[in-house]
Amino acid sequence: MEFISEELLQYCEEHSTAESEVLKELNRNTYAKVLSPRMLSGHLQGRFLSMISRMIKPKNILEIGTYTGYSGICLAEGLAINGKITTIDINDELNEMTCQYFNNAGIKNKSEIIIGDARQIIPNLNEKFDLIFIDADKESYSTYYDLVFEKLTIGGYIIADNVLWSGNVLKEEKNWDRDTKWIVAFNEKVNTDERTNKVLLPLRDGLYLIERIK
Ligand SMILES: C[S@@+](CC[C@H](N)C(=O)[O-])C[C@H]1O[C@@H](n2cnc3c(N)ncnc32)[C@H](O)[C@@H]1O
Repeated sequence: MEFISEELLQYCEEHSTAESEVLKELNRNTYAKVLSPRMLSGHLQGRFLSMISRMIKPKNILEIGTYTGYSGICLAEGLAINGKITTIDINDELNEMTCQYFNNAGIKNKSEIIIGDARQIIPNLNEKFDLIFIDADKESYSTYYDLVFEKLTIGGYIIADNVLWSGNVLKEEKNWDRDTKWIVAFNEKVNTDERTNKVLLPLRDGLYLIERIK
């Protein structure tokens, strides 16, 4: 399900800041060489993530789900001076490409790419984060939320991707597949969490913006 038409999306992209040459090339190369390229955030969502990050000016960003590094580069654009992005992915096959593009984007020295299962890695991270992007396996969204919550500064933000799951969240429960079940459970968990303010935006596949208030 597309939430807006191709034409409207194009109009939105044409009226947003253009992708940098590095992001444009990474976008193109991911579509040419990597499996499941639709996982990449893309132009409009990428500019949104960059804008939010620029507003927050985070000292520490955590990303769960690096893939080829597109969203990581966008998020890093808002880092405070001496800030750092830590990004985790279970798939080591994309690491070379991600490192190359982090280097091309000039964020090699302010990034750490960790290869492994985020469910095992997050408990061992000792920093606090001002901005956390959840964009990995849908099964673990609720687990990630619980694991990262105490590592998020009060006043910090979590952004979770794909929370409309192509509109499947509207289906009757008997028609849910496993991913839909996990996303619906995650959305309920976030919505009933009184420690947060939140807004669910119908951008691309749905972005949940969550602010920790206590
Ligand atoms: C949707 S893609 C991320 C897209 C990327 N954030 C972007 O916008 O360009 C999801 C990524 O999560 C990774 N992933 C899946 N399960 C994971 C896990 N348990 N721990 C860490 N990464 C995982 C996959 O290997 C995949 O690269």
